[in-house]
Amino acid sequence: MDQKSHKKTKKIVIFASGNGTNAVNIFNYFSSIDDIEVSHIFSNNRKAKVLERANTLGITPVYFDKSALLNSDDILILLDEIKPDLIVLAGFLLKIPQKIIEAFPHKIINIHPSLLPKYGGKGMYGSKVHEAVIANKEAKSGISIHYVNPVYDDGEIVSQHEIIVTEDDTPDNLADKIHQLEYTHFPKVIHKILSS
Ligand code: GAR
Repeated sequence: MDQKSHKKTKKIVIFASGNGTNAVNIFNYFSSIDDIEVSHIFSNNRKAKVLERANTLGITPVYFDKSALLNSDDILILLDEIKPDLIVLAGFLLKIPQKIIEAFPHKIINIHPSLLPKYGGKGMYGSKVHEAVIANKEAKSGISIHYVNPVYDDGEIVSQHEIIVTEDDTPDNLADKIHQLEYTHFPKVIHKILSS
């Protein structure tokens, strides 16, 4: 047995509601890191592309409905069994219940596609954020990675990264630019958290 196989593998559990390109990017990044792995991908959306993507990666995704998260202890019990080192919300649109936040202190992070506190809060996700940034003629936008507390997009900021918004940017191409920024920084920030 070599030395690496003695190391405990840290587990990342990803929650995603939609397309799941960040989930795939995070999975791919950690596939070459020997002591950290994406062990599970959870989704609340039966039609989400992320479920298909998880299967392609060789992960059996965990689907749950909104009420399992909000009105039962099912997800908490499952997470207690998995014992994740970090829970990563990557395009996850439901609020994480207080009891899960309390059970995993400083172990749940979210990515938001704006420079919080700007353009955060309930109802601000994905293209809605980019439409508002363009409508307000902002000169810059970016991403915020933050710990999750019981208020949407309000927890302690871990890291923010900026890009310039130009006059000819549209919500669609701003979304592309923001996604590129997410692909570059999100896995590295996760890696840093898990290595500290
Ligand atoms: C990402 O841009 C992420 O920042 C955003 O949803 C997108 C998911 O893309 N999250 C939010 O808006 C949360 N409020 P993906 O499904 O392709 O990873």
